[in-house]
Amino acid sequence: MSAPKKLFIKTYGCQMNVYDSERMAEALGGEGYVETKSADDADMILLNTCHIREKAAEKVYSELGRFKGLKAEKPDLKIGVAGCVAQAEGEEIMRRQPLVDLVVGPQSYHRLPEMEAKTRAGEKVLDTDFPEEDKFEKLKNRPKAKRGPTAFLTVQEGCDKFCAFCVVPYTRGAEVSRPADRILREAQDLVERGVREITLLGQNVNAYHGAGPNGDLTLAQLIWELDKIDGLERIRFTTSHPNDMQDDLIEAHGTCAKLMPYLHLPVQAGSDKILKRMNRSHTAESYIRLIERIRAARPDILISGDFIVGFPEETEEDFQATMDLVEEVKYGTAYSFKYSTRPGTPAAERPQVDPAAADDRLQRLQALLTRQQREVQDSMVGREVGVLFEKTGRLPGQMVGKSDYLHAVHVADCNRDAGELARVRIVSSGANSLAGELIG
Ligand code: SAH
Ligand code: SF4
Ligand code: F3S
Repeated sequence: MSAPKKLFIKTYGCQMNVYDSERMAEALGGEGYVETKSADDADMILLNTCHIREKAAEKVYSELGRFKGLKAEKPDLKIGVAGCVAQAEGEEIMRRQPLVDLVVGPQSYHRLPEMEAKTRAGEKVLDTDFPEEDKFEKLKNRPKAKRGPTAFLTVQEGCDKFCAFCVVPYTRGAEVSRPADRILREAQDLVERGVREITLLGQNVNAYHGAGPNGDLTLAQLIWELDKIDGLERIRFTTSHPNDMQDDLIEAHGTCAKLMPYLHLPVQAGSDKILKRMNRSHTAESYIRLIERIRAARPDILISGDFIVGFPEETEEDFQATMDLVEEVKYGTAYSFKYSTRPGTPAAERPQVDPAAADDRLQRLQALLTRQQREVQDSMVGREVGVLFEKTGRLPGQMVGKSDYLHAVHVADCNRDAGELARVRIVSSGANSLAGELIG
């Protein structure tokens, strides 16, 4: 038997890329590859890329440049680019960087094994099609190896919303939902391998409408099906769009014990003028009313968000409206970005905001969000929460896990294993995590 070939995958971008990288590694596992943590001893390097902002895309070219020496030393080394930059700039990558052997867009991953074989025969291959078939069904099954307590599971992919700043509808294609039975089968398999918490993924995960035995299921209906799986303790989902937040999903937050009290619900901006120009099709007011309804169903839910500052034509007054919205909502966590011009998107053509003004706004917004985040975290002190332990801590006897609200929690003198769920009383709040003690 020949020695296994080694695969090095580097993943950028969102959780969906993390999930895709796992599936690609498993598919190439069937072709005799094992994963390695170092590019230096790899027979194949795969960069799973992100195109969301300019910096993310540029990283790919600088990373590729670094592999030049490696390829010179090892002519059999194959280098591939996957993910959203591959989809958006596949031909340009091949042109700009001759050491790339393979370019594969997110909808063609099931063809990776045959593409790999072609590169071994000396060919260069590029596949950025949007085929009709379910790639995850065609990708080789996950091997039955034991897994950690948490896992991602893609249930929906693509986006039809076309926000004026965003590349995702072009890189991931139209909204598609996977059939419910396949998701349930995959979830059951994950649980049998040790997973206790599953995060359902989709670019617009709450637009999920996958086929079920009696017609399409909503995301809430899918969650209730997952709720029946013994051994699955926690369910999360991300990312939701405010316009797809249906009543049954809001209700499930109040009634489904396995559905965790955490919701990432990006709003992007607080000015209706800017929201309109972003093509978000919701207003600041409708978003705030929606948050109120969600909190009525689950009062302790932790709300998370995404924000863009410096969108074309954003004035100081518009920015102030974003600050006002943040003050009103009170976020438990949030991600904020300076607008990045993406070629081919409608906003790229519009009058741009002075970069210094945008930097200044980002700083002010981040200061406010950090303060809120800390307040929400500090308010956990004295409360009892569920913690799913994931690993041992740095101190002897310490375990680290995530609370129901997704805060990192350290527990000292903890006689529990990874994968165990325990009740914990929070005793203090640190810079980025909480400390707690086991109850009972
Ligand atoms: N599907 C999700 C997330 C999309 S990408 C949603 O609808 O919210 C994640 C985040 O990146 C977005 O929420 C947005 O805040 C940010 N983003 C997207 N395009 C951007 C751009 N051109 N410049 C800066 N931030 C951007
Ligand atoms: Fe991008 Fe908007 Fe779609 Fe989210 S909803 S992926 S921000 S186009
Ligand atoms: Fe990036 Fe593509 Fe995800 S652009 S954020 S990797 S969907």
